[in-house]
Amino acid sequence: LLRDEPKQPVKVLVTGAAGQIGYAIVAMIARGQMLGPDQPVVLHMLDLPRMADALNGVRMELVDAALPLLRGRVLAAGVVATSDEAEAFKGVNFAVLIGGWPRKEGMERKDLIAKNVAIYRGQASALQQHAAPNCKVLVVANPANTNALVLKEFAPAIPAKNITCLTRLDHNRALGQISEKLGVHVGDVKNAVVWGNHSSTQFPDASHATVRNEQGEKPVRELVSDKTWLREEFVSVVQQRGAAVIKARKQSSSLSAASSACDHMRDWVLGTPKGTWVSMGVYSDGSYGVPKGIFYSFPVTCDKGEWSIVQGLQVDDFARSKMELSAKELEEEKAIADEFVSIERD
Ligand code: LMR
Repeated sequence: LLRDEPKQPVKVLVTGAAGQIGYAIVAMIARGQMLGPDQPVVLHMLDLPRMADALNGVRMELVDAALPLLRGRVLAAGVVATSDEAEAFKGVNFAVLIGGWPRKEGMERKDLIAKNVAIYRGQASALQQHAAPNCKVLVVANPANTNALVLKEFAPAIPAKNITCLTRLDHNRALGQISEKLGVHVGDVKNAVVWGNHSSTQFPDASHATVRNEQGEKPVRELVSDKTWLREEFVSVVQQRGAAVIKARKQSSSLSAASSACDHMRDWVLGTPKGTWVSMGVYSDGSYGVPKGIFYSFPVTCDKGEWSIVQGLQVDDFARSKMELSAKELEEEKAIADEFVSIERD
């Protein structure tokens, strides 16, 4: 390949594309914020039939924005906007799954899981049947970890390492809180860890995080004078941030979710910077004593399109108990999902 030869376009699926996160993320993808400024993309946008008009509006806006990275032989603008699953999943190299059953007022967690199990089973077979064999999948829709597990269970042809869920939003929230607390640039803060579920049981852990300054890198725990902050307020603010945004906006986080999903995919595909890790929800291999068989958020580094869990971080008793709490919740979610699957089977 010649050095200057343009890259071949890749196909990126976004489900729930007419929704709030979808609307924010398609522009970011088409501007190279997910896969790089030199990577042409064909966007596959899927949404429900009743969203067809809204989805077409998004497609029109993408045409109107004259985005040079958008490619495609069939459609000049490089966009497939459809409510047909087979068409949407066809040949995709990357899948960002935002569509799901939203939590409505008064809905039990159990009901939310049941609704999404049904949806994600369907998505699993569409992926398995139609996506490119090496497709990388990011689940954004809640309950994200358990939706990812359902995908894995019902798409056995897809390697488990290709299925992930979004906790980068929580990771970025952690960096944001540290930056605000210390009055430092967020770009100088790194190596927070979010352990566990993308829910209020997650454990945002700043004990390994650092801030870069003229002298090098300094541990956040040495820079924060108020020693209880890291174990109390920081943890609860990050855990509750999604709910706080919903309260303020009357709808859930969208631009931060979209931006974090781009960060997740970009680092997965293009690699994490040297000495930096990020948080990703991945299929547990038992690292740090976390049970196998659930999708759990770990610190990871990425290289050549593969993630690996950072090993050897110190986990004290306080951290251990928080990590176990979130694992327990994920095992409960898994049990609810299993129960629903077996009810359907009987
Ligand atoms: C978020 O973290 O912002 C969302 O997952 C919150 C939600 O429940 O939609």
